[in-house]
Amino acid sequence: MASTRDRIIALFVANEDTYLSGQAISEQLNISRTAVWKQINILKKDGYQVDAIPNKGYRIISTPDKLSENTLQWGLDTKWLGKTIHHYPTIDSTQTKANALAYEGAPHGTIVVADKQEAGRGRMNRQWFSDNNQGIWLSIILRPSVLPFQAPQFTLLVGTILAEVLTKETDVAVKIKWPNDLFIGNYKVAGILTEMQAEQDTVHHLVVGIGINVNQTRTRFDTSIQTKATSLREATGTIYSRIILIQQILRSFEAEYENFIKQGFNPIKTKWEQRAYKLNEWVTYYTNNQKAEGKIKGIQEDGALLVERIDKQITALYSAEIDW
Ligand code: BTN
Repeated sequence: MASTRDRIIALFVANEDTYLSGQAISEQLNISRTAVWKQINILKKDGYQVDAIPNKGYRIISTPDKLSENTLQWGLDTKWLGKTIHHYPTIDSTQTKANALAYEGAPHGTIVVADKQEAGRGRMNRQWFSDNNQGIWLSIILRPSVLPFQAPQFTLLVGTILAEVLTKETDVAVKIKWPNDLFIGNYKVAGILTEMQAEQDTVHHLVVGIGINVNQTRTRFDTSIQTKATSLREATGTIYSRIILIQQILRSFEAEYENFIKQGFNPIKTKWEQRAYKLNEWVTYYTNNQKAEGKIKGIQEDGALLVERIDKQITALYSAEIDW
């Protein structure tokens, strides 16, 4: 459940151009007038400029919810993640930029974020639509001491983190569709792109790209994805603060990443499986053009998807085409 503070900010974001009376806020959020007044004072303290007109109500004149290095770092209590943030109003791709910065030696935990991407990239060189101010388009540079074969585990780690954070923030179940998609119901809401620069036994850097559809309405999606994609707003009817979401993701990311480095993959595997899309459901899949049926059972350490065949044999899939 989102906090009162988060809900009041979202309400103001949704009513950007109008005044909201204390009464209206109290009714919409189901809190007392005194609680509204207290929250407004906290917001003012936090850097929001609130205009208050008697008999009319409150309006936020300037909100720190615009993405910038400052607004993202404000209140961010991480130790190493997001200590350096590169923010661009428009960029080709945060992923391309983060890779370039990583080659130039950017430190572990550096973040590249944009309001709009003109050449956002998905897996398999697919286009990733990145509408202006409507979503989270973010890439994180990591320099873990791991072996190249462990790179897929980072996609699964990040999928677990996103599913947990987005479920908590929206109160709807966000599921992980192997290997790199986040789904609400049968619609894709987010995707992960993990890229790596490595030699045989050394990973030089990883760039984890995260794309989340946040505040788009269905008609704003490109027609090619309108029947397949959703946003947090479409799924819940609520407009979300991208800053709050990014900060929650970064906090959780740092903590879970540290656990992963200390404890290994097993705890992630358990959490991943708890949030897996279509767990224990039958799917049709194709390997080497061979059609087969299997029940989704989970993942294994190297990132493969485990399916149970009709004869109860467990098969590990690495790059199967799956009819979900
Ligand atoms: C996928 O679903 O195929 C992965 C999508 C990843 C999109 C993100 S948005 C931020 C970063 N920059 C990109 O160009 N791609 C990733």
